[in-house]
Amino acid sequence: MQTAITRLLGIEHPIVQGGMQWVGRAELVSAVSNAGALGVLTALTQPTPEALHDEIRRTRSMTDRPFAVNLTILPTLKPVPYEAYRDVIIESGIKIVETAGNNPAAHMPAFKAAGIKVIHKCTTPRHAVKAEQIGADAVSIDGFECAGHVGESDLPGLILIPATVARLRIPVIASGGFGDARGLVAALALGAEGINMGTRFMCTQESPVHENIKRAIVENSETDTCLILRSLRNSNRVARSALAQSVIDMERAGAGIDQIGPRIAGAKGRRVYEEGDTEAGIWTVGMVQGLIDDIPTCAALIQRIMAEAESLVRDRLCGLVG
Ligand SMILES: Cc1cc2nc3c(=O)[nH]c(=O)nc-3n(C[C@H](O)[C@H](O)[C@H](O)COP(=O)(O)O)c2cc1C
Repeated sequence: MQTAITRLLGIEHPIVQGGMQWVGRAELVSAVSNAGALGVLTALTQPTPEALHDEIRRTRSMTDRPFAVNLTILPTLKPVPYEAYRDVIIESGIKIVETAGNNPAAHMPAFKAAGIKVIHKCTTPRHAVKAEQIGADAVSIDGFECAGHVGESDLPGLILIPATVARLRIPVIASGGFGDARGLVAALALGAEGINMGTRFMCTQESPVHENIKRAIVENSETDTCLILRSLRNSNRVARSALAQSVIDMERAGAGIDQIGPRIAGAKGRRVYEEGDTEAGIWTVGMVQGLIDDIPTCAALIQRIMAEAESLVRDRLCGLVG
């Protein structure tokens, strides 16, 4: 299945693994890329730019296929040396970058000068148009279903994807709520050139998160997520938990980031993934968990999606038009 995205990125299948804090490490990224999709390392999972350099080297030792690095530009409790991370990405010879969060314009000239293809991930057609104007090569458009930062416009994929495709010339990757062949075929029908998946890849054999968390994803339904930080216009879709509910209650009572900050600290979220305690911190997951009922290898998952997508198109869709 060749699309504008497989051609742009030099990959076999039109599937991208979105950047994931604490999850997008060499083990998962190399498994996704080895299976013919695009693995994406998460720059800020590494504590320093030097550590990112080492992680890129480690990933290269595990795959000779293309992989990307995600640079997420968002308000953080501690300042992040973004320029230093960017320079490591460039110096390491990475050829594909996924940017997300705030406008990446400040980093664009350096990426372009290095011949890097930039996929910008955003949640509204307006931001997608802006990304095209500042030189992005593709846009990943993240619907309200997605894990993590959903934005403040609450646009579900069914509207967001075709609305974005209609306004851009560069290829669009559909993101948020994708986990199987039905989603891939639907995304292509909506005009996207591929899909981006986070939650689905978090629940694979090679994903470096604790078995308890993978099992929780399998057991949880589509209603087991909630939105925190809405009151701060930094809405984040996370697993429904007692801790997440306590944050929502604090927001309703008018608490600010000073009070909420300690509860949502990234270090606690990291403990969830490492120790498997779903209440140790806030953890990120999307509504698509309701469609996930196994923990396959990345290769088995990608092969299944591609085989079922082909048969959906050939048998079901072609059959409908005779
Ligand atoms: C555990 C987890 C961590 C994430 N961390 C990031 C991140 O650091 N930067 C980012 O751009 N997106 C992040 N995302 C969002 C994904 O890249 C992707 O856009 C999203 O998961 C798509 O929705 P889906 O989960 O329904 O597939 C994260 C998602 C998950 C599940």
